[in-house]
Amino acid sequence: MRSYLNGKFVDADAAVVPVTDRGFMFGDGVYEVTRSAGGDLIELTRHVRRLTRNLREMAISLRESDVATMVDVSRTLLRDNRLDGDALVYWQVTRGAAPRVHQFPPVGTVPTVYVATMPVTLPHAVRTRGAVAITTPDIRWARCDVKTVNLLPNTLAKQRAVESGADEAIFVRDGTITEGASSNVFAVLDGELRTHPRSPYILPGVTRDVVLEVAGEAGMSVREEPFRPDDLARASELFFTSTFNDVMPIVRVDGRTIGSGRPGPVAQQLYAAFLERVSPVAAAP
Ligand SMILES: Cc1ncc(COP(=O)(O)O)c(C=O)c1O
Repeated sequence: MRSYLNGKFVDADAAVVPVTDRGFMFGDGVYEVTRSAGGDLIELTRHVRRLTRNLREMAISLRESDVATMVDVSRTLLRDNRLDGDALVYWQVTRGAAPRVHQFPPVGTVPTVYVATMPVTLPHAVRTRGAVAITTPDIRWARCDVKTVNLLPNTLAKQRAVESGADEAIFVRDGTITEGASSNVFAVLDGELRTHPRSPYILPGVTRDVVLEVAGEAGMSVREEPFRPDDLARASELFFTSTFNDVMPIVRVDGRTIGSGRPGPVAQQLYAAFLERVSPVAAAP
């Protein structure tokens, strides 16, 4: 596989950054994961917008033209790596390499820019049986709306999930469900679609936005308002959304069955609408 690092195409195995890189030292960087199908990027505009916002929020100076180059490079890598099926495209930008002090490095320090592509097998089998989740305290900081490479609480939560045989960990902060370790979470409660509102405590997922749009278009009643773990007992459905998973039904949380215990009609309808919305880029399985 070829990848791209700081202006050069390199073998993925040979892509190295100095140990003084602020991404390595401090987790001082942001990233995006986009998906491609048939060599083109799904919801590209939204991913570019989120990357640009996150760079600005973290005061990492990357020119607009450099972001455009990352998009061009992504397409080149997909072609050169012959990834014309389902693939993930990874973008990472750090504040660059500089002597290790906490405050920002001198003006002019060049950000590190990395682009990689990888083939992916989409989790259709999990979607058919329904995913299993655990809840776990949300110990993250108060800027979860920024997609930074500081992912330790997320990796710890996901590891706990995997160790208990689950597919995803659902964060609980101040008694309410915020989101998943790498996804946004939706419930169907009293016939209404519910999800945590945009706030500093969740990542505004691209898939979440698209699902909210298609749900609105389908005439579903949608409320962006937090819900609580206690509410799950009366939820008819629960699902999570992400670039990798699209719409993924959850059938069990902390050992308790959700709804009928099988993927439900709302998740199925939203998944179908989502696929239609992002097609012809993404094809149905
Ligand atoms: C914490 C978190 N929330 C939500 C999401 C879903 O975002 P998207 O739909 O843009 O992939 C992700 C994706 O990785 C995530 O890491």
